[in-house]
Amino acid sequence: MFKKLPGDEAQHLVSTTPDTAVVFRPAVVRTPAILTLLIFGWRLLAGVVRLLWRHPIASAVALTPGVLTYFYGWRWGLGLVVLVPLGLTAWCLLARPSFLRLVGWRLLAWWRLVWVYRRHWQPVMIISGLGRHLRGRDYLPRVVRVTCTSWADVVTVRMLTGQAVKDWSDRTDHLAHGFGARSCRVSVARSGRLLLVFPRRDPLATPLPAMPVPAEASVGPVEVGKCEDGKPWLLKVHGTHVLVAGATGAGKGSVIWSTILGLLPAMHVGLAQVWALDPKRMELSYGRGLFGDRYAASPADCAGLLEAAVQIMQERADRYAGLQRSHTPTVDDPFVLVVVDEVAFLTAYQSDKGLKLRICAALATLTTQGRAVGFGVLAALQDPRKEVMNIRNLFPDKIALRLDESEQVDMVLGDGARDRGALADHISPIPEQGAGIGYVRLETSPDPIRVRAAYVSDSDIRAMALGVTA
Ligand SMILES: Nc1ncnc2c1ncn2[C@@H]1O[C@H](COP(=O)(O)OP(=O)(O)OP(=O)(O)O)[C@@H](O)[C@H]1O
Ligand SMILES: [Mg+2]
Repeated sequence: MFKKLPGDEAQHLVSTTPDTAVVFRPAVVRTPAILTLLIFGWRLLAGVVRLLWRHPIASAVALTPGVLTYFYGWRWGLGLVVLVPLGLTAWCLLARPSFLRLVGWRLLAWWRLVWVYRRHWQPVMIISGLGRHLRGRDYLPRVVRVTCTSWADVVTVRMLTGQAVKDWSDRTDHLAHGFGARSCRVSVARSGRLLLVFPRRDPLATPLPAMPVPAEASVGPVEVGKCEDGKPWLLKVHGTHVLVAGATGAGKGSVIWSTILGLLPAMHVGLAQVWALDPKRMELSYGRGLFGDRYAASPADCAGLLEAAVQIMQERADRYAGLQRSHTPTVDDPFVLVVVDEVAFLTAYQSDKGLKLRICAALATLTTQGRAVGFGVLAALQDPRKEVMNIRNLFPDKIALRLDESEQVDMVLGDGARDRGALADHISPIPEQGAGIGYVRLETSPDPIRVRAAYVSDSDIRAMALGVTA
């Protein structure tokens, strides 16, 4: 049945909304002027109260000079207008961190909200397909808040009802270009709310020098570089196994050497040992002095060394059986980190079938049984495909440095990692700009974090090796 509406159909009426087929002239109800005035007055009052409630600080800033002028004369009002900016400038110059934390980032966030996000929100949402234009009305996701950190804008949005995170993560390109950022990362704040991270600058753009040798002997987590948010990148090696994947020149060496550097004091006092397998002879051979006779380069030696590690591990497991379930490093039972550079040379590209089987079996045994008895494996490889590294899933922690193909990102970091912003295939192949940069997933969050490993130069490595032999 047709619903009967008040009013009559207007003939020959020109409409400004082209998608409205029929225009009805509304029924006119005459109201007394006083009622209209009351309604307007009420709206004004509600608007003022809402403004004061939502923006108390901004309202106070705008109102105080006026109030001062009214009660104490214009000199006071003008004095305030001049003194406050002067005071803020002095604060900024003298104590920049506290100024930025309490005032600077908030002011910037407000400016970015008004100038970038509000201004471009409607067109970007409609054109990217995240908002809808239905019957002349816009249905748009809502910007809840913008906060600024030293390197990025974090925009909290409320999705439209019925939208999925995937709808947004599929459109990170639209969002990044729409709001003039280099990239955009999407993460879930809570049900229905997303955090969009738009970097303003790249804090990892310049190479990091090698970390200082830690003062205390510890088996980790080891500080191997810096996270994008400026926090130290702590890599856990004791109680896990780590796989580093990256194309040639991606900087796998810097992750390996930064880890060894962080373990150096523990190696000095005998709480940790690094066993090095270097089939390419281009990486770990530099610091041979550090490893003593626990260094192997030829496939046969590598197989022997791995089997020796397995033997010690099993002997330790026999001793621990029924007595303890986790490992605490001691001089008698140190933490053993087996470092394998270019592991694919041993597991996939090895022509000797027998050696290949022995190496794969030893690696699989170490990675499945070593964690609780103080054996860890840190392996690096170029190609993360299953055919090349069939035990890839035995490594709980993985690091994706620069990769050649977008599909490889999810192979390393798990399904959906690239959608969540791990653009390892977009990292620059120029060493100064991209070597050592990668993405990791921390235990605490499913969202990948961008990190850069510190660069341990050849002279750093030689100094380390000299220190140990001395
Ligand atoms: N963290 C870093 N910061 C800056 N530059 C780096 C970093 N790591 C490596 N580099 C530069 O990149 C070059 C290649 O690094 P590296 O040898 O570690 O790569 P790789 O991933 O081991 O490559 P390959 O698979 O060919 O051995 C180095 O010679 C160095 O100049
Ligand atoms: Mg290498």
